[in-house]
Amino acid sequence: MVGVSQAVQSRRSVRSFLPDPVPAGTLHEILELAQLAPSSSNMQPWRVFAVTGAPLADLLQRVRETAAANPRGEPPEYPIYAPDLKDPYNARRIACAEDLYGHIGVARENKLGRLMHFARNFAFFGAPVGLIVTIDRTMERGQWADVGIWLSTFMLLAQERGLSTCAQAAWAGMNRTVRSALAIPDEYLVYCGIALGYADPEAQINTLRIGREPIESAVTMIGFEEAAEAR
Ligand SMILES: Cc1cc2nc3c(=O)[nH]c(=O)nc-3n(C[C@H](O)[C@H](O)[C@H](O)COP(=O)(O)O)c2cc1C
Repeated sequence: MVGVSQAVQSRRSVRSFLPDPVPAGTLHEILELAQLAPSSSNMQPWRVFAVTGAPLADLLQRVRETAAANPRGEPPEYPIYAPDLKDPYNARRIACAEDLYGHIGVARENKLGRLMHFARNFAFFGAPVGLIVTIDRTMERGQWADVGIWLSTFMLLAQERGLSTCAQAAWAGMNRTVRSALAIPDEYLVYCGIALGYADPEAQINTLRIGREPIESAVTMIGFEEAAEAR
């Protein structure tokens, strides 16, 4: 077990997993604790489907059939990005993709290579557990933030237990297949997936480190200098 700061510092999106199963008790404990995540008016708007074993194999088989018929997947139920995404966000999005594909040696012109890597999303990158995170489709933006808080809480709790994760918006593009395979009621909108398992320590892709902007680009500090002077 590690502390929160260590879990935050060591967590990375892992994109290659060992086949070793995740003990059911460990997953249950993580889910019990993640349920304590705060939410606006305690609405707890997340609704999560965790799948492993034969049902997971069945889901992945169905997803392969969908992808074979339509490599671009299914139209997501919500816009993942703004259609005219502005900078600096668009620049960061592009830099993130370039970092990832550069790291695994897939050139920009290698469209097939990029597509093949992207398709690994739909195998949960080999993880033994896949989670599909949904939200009641009547929820507003405030509650989407709540689901994000749940997501982060879940990933850090997994990290604390030596497990790794990758959040995957890619699963929004398989919503119909996922809904039918896991019998997800229509009232829940498919937001994203999470791959969960033990990271493959030999996999080069798992050595990727994505940087962050300094806090000055995200936070405006007001009144702290005066407070420091007054002390
Ligand atoms: C909501 C969400 C959706 C994401 N979707 C994907 C995805 O579909 N595929 C993927 O490989 N990574 C996905 N990521 C991982 C991000 O690319 C990653 O968090 C970011 O580049 C920072 O890298 P790090 O997690 O290793 O620190 C997603 C992350 C979040 C939080």
